[in-house]
Order: sequence, then structure tokens, then C-alpha cells
Amino acid sequence: MDLSGKSALVTGAAQGLGAAIADCLADRGAHVFRSDIKPGQGLLAHDVSDEASWQTVLDDVKADTGALHILVNNAGIEGAPDAPKDPEGTPLEDWEAIFSVNARGTFLGCKHAMALMAASGGGAITNLASVAALVPTPFITAYGASKAAVAHLTRTVALHAAQQGYAIRANAVYPGQIRTPMLNDLFGRWALEQGIAAEEVAESFRQTIPLKAFQEPRDIAETVAYLSSDMARYVTGQNIAVDGGFSLVN
Ligand SMILES: NC(=O)c1ccc[n+]([C@@H]2O[C@H](COP(=O)([O-])OP(=O)(O)OC[C@H]3O[C@@H](n4cnc5c(N)ncnc54)[C@H](O)[C@@H]3O)[C@@H](O)[C@H]2O)c1
Repeated sequence: MDLSGKSALVTGAAQGLGAAIADCLADRGAHVFRSDIKPGQGLLAHDVSDEASWQTVLDDVKADTGALHILVNNAGIEGAPDAPKDPEGTPLEDWEAIFSVNARGTFLGCKHAMALMAASGGGAITNLASVAALVPTPFITAYGASKAAVAHLTRTVALHAAQQGYAIRANAVYPGQIRTPMLNDLFGRWALEQGIAAEEVAESFRQTIPLKAFQEPRDIAETVAYLSSDMARYVTGQNIAVDGGFSLVN
């Protein structure tokens, strides 16, 4: 999985999976641009839900390396912590906020990066979906629906890029459960609702995973590195679950 000579952009790279993916691509020799809505050292300022922001970031990438071969649409949110998440209670504002980052943000990334990637000789887009796109999710309604949109969009982008002769592949990864701030916040919420400790919630969740372990960010990062590399040169339009078997039993 040698990525030397490749220019990569990872969104939402300030923490969690995005940071791990960016490190993993850099370890394999890619020149990695990291972007996030959160300001931070070495991060390009980027709101993925904003079309103008995408243009600015891609202009910066082009001005720096002249090329883009790898795009990882990783930025994602699960919505306001205190808002109900079931299909009857989900406030419209929460639905729209979640879709604006997860679905619109991913769409805008694919939309605007394709021209630069095609002009760079092609490359790979990897979108972060979720196992929440595979199973019904009344406890995170908008999040699950937004990730299902990402999965479908990925297949459409893959076909479009192939039809245009761009040499761009597009795939999605469905992570299972990784103890990043996003998942820990969810466990914290459930713990409050049930009046038990967050670690108790985490433990009972762990028992539902066939491999009986939470994933590490590295598990996702390695898969993204593979999909971004020439080893996956014939893999496009696929949605790959990296979930310890969770989607087999849920
Ligand atoms: N953690 C899990 O168990 C899990 C499971 C399945 C899917 N995922 C997906 O993986 C991706 C990363 O998740 P994570 O757990 O690392 O989350 P996280 O909350 O730890 O990190 C997300 C990052 O995205 C950034 N971000 C949020 N809104 C943004 C915007 N509008 N523009 C740019 N950046 C923005 C945040 O500032 C943050 O740095 C997300 O798409 C998430 O939905 C995570």
C-alpha cells in the first residue's frame, strides 16, 4: 500500500477517525492535507457543508501540490446531543443539520474534487458511511438515513466517474463501533436515559459485536489506505463493512 507521490485530502481530520486516517495515509507516503471545521494547527479551515469552502480548500490543495489523488470524505456529525433522535421526535433542524454535513458535505466533496482528481490522472474517493446505513436506527434516525444516502451516492459517483473515463474509483466504508468522541457521546446519552454508568452501556454494546471487541481507529484507517491505493485499482462502487461482524447479526 505505497502511497508515495499521491496527494490526499482528509476532511474532519482534527480528531477521531479522520486523524487516524490522515496519519495512516501519511505513514504510507502520501502528501496529506487535513481539513476540519475546528481550527487547529496543520488543519485547513473547512466547513464541508459549504460549497464555497470546498472551492477554497481545493484551490489551496491545487496551489500547493497541483494535484489531488485521494479524497476521504470523513467529516460527520450525529446531531445535537440533547435532541430526540427517534422518527417522531427528531426536530427538523437536527435532521437538516445532520444531512447538511453527512450527506450534503459528502456530495459537495465528490462534486468538486472530481475535476481536479481527473486532471491529476485519477485516484480514489472514500466516503465514511456507517453500519447505521445497513440496519434500522430509530435511536439515531437522521444519522442512519444520512449514511444510507452516502452509501447510495458513492455507487452513483463510482459509475459516473467510470462512464466519464476519469480513472477515479469511489467506495464507502461502513465502520462499526469505535470509541471516538462521537460514540462516547452516544453511550453517555444512553447511560443518562437508563440511569446507569456509560461503561455499563459500552459493555452491553460490546457483547452485541460478534468479534466481541470495539474497533480501533486504525482498523478503519488501514481499510481506507487499501481503498486509496493501487492495490484496489479494480475496486469501485463498493460499500465495505468493517464492523467485527455487527451487520451479520443486527
Ligand atoms: N465512531 C464511530 O463509531 C463511527 C461509526 C460509524 C461511522 N462513523 C463515521 O466516521 C466519521 C468520523 O467519525 P468520528 O467518530 O471520528 O467522529 P468525531 O466526532 O470524533 O470527529 C468528526 C470530525 O469532523 C469534524 N466536523 C464536524 N462537522 C464538520 C464540518 N461541517 N466540516 C468539516 N469538519 C467537520 C469535527 O470537528 C471532528 O473533528 C464520521 O463520518 C462518522 O459518522 C463513526
